Amino acid sequence: MKYNVFKTKKEASKAAYETFKQYLKPNSVLGLATGGTPTDFYKEIIADYNLGNTSYKNNVTFNLDEYVGISYDHPESYHKFMDTNLFDHIDIDRKNINIPDASSEHLAEEIKKYQNKLNNKTINIQLLGVGSNGHIGFNEPGTFFNVGVHVVDLNEETIEANSRFFNNDKNLVPKQAVTMGIADIMKSEVIILLAFGENKKEAIKSLFDENEPTVDIPCTILKNHPNVYVFVDEEADYNK
Ligand code: PGA
Repeated sequence: MKYNVFKTKKEASKAAYETFKQYLKPNSVLGLATGGTPTDFYKEIIADYNLGNTSYKNNVTFNLDEYVGISYDHPESYHKFMDTNLFDHIDIDRKNINIPDASSEHLAEEIKKYQNKLNNKTINIQLLGVGSNGHIGFNEPGTFFNVGVHVVDLNEETIEANSRFFNNDKNLVPKQAVTMGIADIMKSEVIILLAFGENKKEAIKSLFDENEPTVDIPCTILKNHPNVYVFVDEEADYNK
């Protein structure tokens, strides 16, 4: 695991983008994340794209997760997030974008479909955030490492953390999500994990301690992955 500390989220995101670009190929399959963490990273993608340095015409993307129970158009849906923060600003071909359709009435079928699509591709570069409880994607503590795409009940800490996007009202936060499983995440060739802020420090620390991976802190499975880059700001630096 390569550990990189920068003063700010902005600087760390810039450095993470440089690493991403080293691996990026015109036809790379990209695993993408949402939330407060990757916003500056996506700004770096857009800025470089606007300079004419990159094209995403032939890239395929898979998002980690989507809330159950809110529509595509909801301002906090992850579909909307991706359009606003990235896809509307680059030349990605819409048919190459994959995000779980968690508003489907046939959720079980949708999950199977998403799993099949993932099984037929290899994610070359996976971008990850991490929850303060160590979740990756929405794989909450206790999730087995061998599971694929599934519906998850969000735990209290996650609902509390994400209420900041829902007028600070926990009741407005969806209670379930569809997420890629840890097995899917672990199959990606390169993982770039970003973490910013004091509340991520414990999760980051767990990546570098002497303990074996534990389902109680899902991100610890990344110790078993051969190519992980971690970018943090000073507040999330576990050495401090
Ligand atoms: P955040 O969430 O980026 O909104 O902090 C990260 C995560 O829960 O994976």
